[in-house]
Amino acid sequence: MKNIVITGGAGFIGSHVVRLFVNKYPEYNVICLDKLTYAGNLANLKDIENKPNYKFVKMDICDFEAFYQLMQNEKVDGIIHLAAESHVDRSIKDPFTFAQTNVMGTLALLQAAKLYWESLPEKYEGKRFYHISTDEVYGALELTHPEGIEPPFTTTASSSEHHLAYGKDFFYEDTKYNPHSPYSAAKASSDHFVRAYHDTYGMPTIVTNCSNNYGPYQFPEKLIPLFINNIRHRKPLPVYGKGENVRDWLYVEDHARAIDLIFHKGKTAETYNIGGFNEWKNIDLIKVMIKTVDSILGNPEGSSLELITYVTDRAGHDLRYAIDSTKLQKELGWEPSLQFEEGIEKTVRWYLENQEWMDNVTSGDYQKYYETMYCGK
Ligand code: NAD
Ligand code: TYD
Repeated sequence: MKNIVITGGAGFIGSHVVRLFVNKYPEYNVICLDKLTYAGNLANLKDIENKPNYKFVKMDICDFEAFYQLMQNEKVDGIIHLAAESHVDRSIKDPFTFAQTNVMGTLALLQAAKLYWESLPEKYEGKRFYHISTDEVYGALELTHPEGIEPPFTTTASSSEHHLAYGKDFFYEDTKYNPHSPYSAAKASSDHFVRAYHDTYGMPTIVTNCSNNYGPYQFPEKLIPLFINNIRHRKPLPVYGKGENVRDWLYVEDHARAIDLIFHKGKTAETYNIGGFNEWKNIDLIKVMIKTVDSILGNPEGSSLELITYVTDRAGHDLRYAIDSTKLQKELGWEPSLQFEEGIEKTVRWYLENQEWMDNVTSGDYQKYYETMYCGK
């Protein structure tokens, strides 16, 4: 495959995927396609923007005509689709935008790809439509513990030696979809469309469902960058409910490596779950962030604990997510490269050392980058 479109490439995960592909595959033509919503930031790609195998295209994935043109002009062989509205809290306030982008946008890409690929003599040979989804489509798991053991307990997963778990159940590839938020409902719907294009038209599709990502370049509306920035500026840390909800965290570069592996080696029409067997109760994770930021900034230990502010819970707040990624580990040999303690320290340091990036995002200045860099060129 030569000509690859990565949608949502100016976002958090997308920028890591674009960077990996541009650096690792000089022979590929990597097209980063992004509408540059509030979540898209071209400064995330500053280090690779002048590479000869990289191109940025500002486009809305809902624009079927424009995307069909792009497929033809660029002779696109592969699509890695990350563009989406991605924040649960926004989806509660504005579900229509989520349905439009996540469902209709995905459908527009599928249909344009279908028309273009079916017009070629080789048809779908050597082509791939890879859709990036989330574990949130599976719904929420219970917090259940083996008799007499206080959570979290250490268990042995079939694939990884030991991991912390807050319950006996996990999300598997065949777990029934049961989305609760408008965000996860829209992602679930888009997953169904992708699979339908395989089953109905024979399009070579792949879907992966990943757990919560963390790392550099995440928009500071999400828990980890928001809280690191608030601790730095000694602002309140709004903990939803009692902070008892459990999330399964994966370092973003490990997700990008999994995407690379699956894009090249994954089996058509398969689903792979991606996760690091790394569950954290929100309040415990917040305390780790406080400790790490305080220690790096030289604040007295624990001095930022007073910033913790319990606020009204998120509506329909899913209690626990936990991914079983045994299939990916066994079949394709992927495993996370970072221990969580290492990953969180690296992440905290990145946000503290890249205050200019954070200031540009919080001030809105990052949205001028496109005009400065691309308009009039
Ligand atoms: P993000 O919000 O940081 O980035 C989304 C990107 O998509 C932005 O650059 C935005 O400008 C672009 N975009 C939005 N609407 C668009 C449109 N109509 N046309 C073109 N571009 C558009 O999101 P993220 O956290 O990087 O997530 C990327 C993908 O991974 C999403 O599909 C998300 O559902 C999935 N995912 C995210 C996580 C996570 O923890 N962040 C976990 C699992 C799966
Ligand atoms: P988030 O980063 O929004 O990811 P998701 O909702 O996709 O899991 O939130 C992670 C967890 O942190 C989730 O349980 C909600 C909680 N949370 C807070 O307690 N306070 C906050 O300000 C935010 C943004 C999230």
